[in-house]
Amino acid sequence: MGRAKVPEIARRGHVVSATLEMIDLHTLRLSLREFRESDASLTHRYERDPHVVRYQSHEPQSFAQSLARVKSAIAASQETPRTVFDLAIVRTQDEQLIGRCGFKITNPEQHEAMLWYVSDPTVWGQGYVTEAAQALLTFAFEQLSLHRIFVDIDPRNTASLRVAEKLGMRREAHFIENAWLKGEWTDAIIMARLAREHQATRPAEHR
Ligand SMILES: CC(C)(COP(=O)(O)OP(=O)(O)OC[C@H]1O[C@@H](n2cnc3c(N)ncnc32)[C@H](O)[C@@H]1OP(=O)(O)O)[C@@H](O)C(=O)NCCC(=O)NCCS
Repeated sequence: MGRAKVPEIARRGHVVSATLEMIDLHTLRLSLREFRESDASLTHRYERDPHVVRYQSHEPQSFAQSLARVKSAIAASQETPRTVFDLAIVRTQDEQLIGRCGFKITNPEQHEAMLWYVSDPTVWGQGYVTEAAQALLTFAFEQLSLHRIFVDIDPRNTASLRVAEKLGMRREAHFIENAWLKGEWTDAIIMARLAREHQATRPAEHR
């Protein structure tokens, strides 16, 4: 059986062929915008929290590390072609930065990206990250023509698994003790969503 033809844009190895304008996405309650250096004080507020980084690969961050992460997101936003889309989640009501959500195009040839998300514990459980990530998936599938987006989750991270489920991601794999993290062998669950699955759930007027 023949494989579907890979689009021209992918064979050239460029998913993003032109420089994108500054990204500014809007949802009912949020905006997702490019980072500014001044955001570091708010990202550091949760990045220094051991509970927040418990299931992430890094340790609680110093202010210098949080600032470096923000600077890295800004630098990545200026690359052409752009492969990292790491955005600040801002609550519209009070213009407060409450987290970050992003993806990295890990395989341009295959139009594939890895998603991540994190938010300040003071706003957990209010649906903000799901709302932000949903907008980002729509952007990735519809504006960048990505084919597959996946997230790598520690099975103990039930809140993150729930977010991925709410995003309509399928459970594709459960790797057993495939990573040495924070002094122990750790499992990973891979959740993923395809462009055609996204398309099938969009209202008819958007198809
Ligand atoms: C994962 C995380 C981003 C979720 O943020 P959030 O803003 O609370 O997400 P949402 O409110 O959109 O959805 C969270 C869902 O998880 C559920 N949940 C939260 N804690 C849970 C727990 N301990 N057990 C089971 N479900 C849980 C919530 O009830 C909600 O589901 P519901 O809408 O069906 O009730 C947040 O917990 C976080 O920043 N964690 C630390 C960073 C992290 O682990 N990121 C993911 C790396 S893969």
